[in-house]
Amino acid sequence: MSHDAGAGAVPLGFHEQYSLHVNGEPRDVLDAWIGESLLYVLRERLGLMGSKGACEQGECGSCSVLVDGELVCSCLVMAASAIDQPIVTIEGVAPVGSPSDVQSAFVEAGAVQCGFCTPGLIMATNALLERSATPSELEIREELSGNVCRCTGYGRIIEAVQRVAISRQSAAVDRGSAR
Ligand code: FES
Ligand code: FES
Repeated sequence: MSHDAGAGAVPLGFHEQYSLHVNGEPRDVLDAWIGESLLYVLRERLGLMGSKGACEQGECGSCSVLVDGELVCSCLVMAASAIDQPIVTIEGVAPVGSPSDVQSAFVEAGAVQCGFCTPGLIMATNALLERSATPSELEIREELSGNVCRCTGYGRIIEAVQRVAISRQSAAVDRGSAR
């Protein structure tokens, strides 16, 4: 890798070796091509199959992950550009078998049908609720407009987001009154 590609890179001829920080752990990427997308590296090199590839053009949001706290389409980001930045994928949202409140709300609201869009929508919902604890319906629609769902018609997805916002709000009120 050339010097400007990142301090963690080791030159290996046409193949590259570098380390990414994924879901709180260092993950070595070996024998890679420098132009590989983050989506490709996550799925094909690191075995993290939760992020989905559909359009691979930044249009559907199914590949959404967080890089340094920012929601990005991983199909549009070069993996090597994310060296030294924390990456969170759907696998890092909650331990297996203990879904997050957002994941549970999607299931309870019937917002999951084929499930292909769901990982991206969960990541986008997490980013939205991080930024705005009580989003309006318009805000939810705008924030999730980059995530295409071909099955649900969005009503149940919006309901799921609203459920989480309401439940977090009541938990905060309960905590306040218990003090
Ligand atoms: S696969 Fe990345 S936006 Fe569609
Ligand atoms: S549940 Fe099938 S694409 Fe969204």
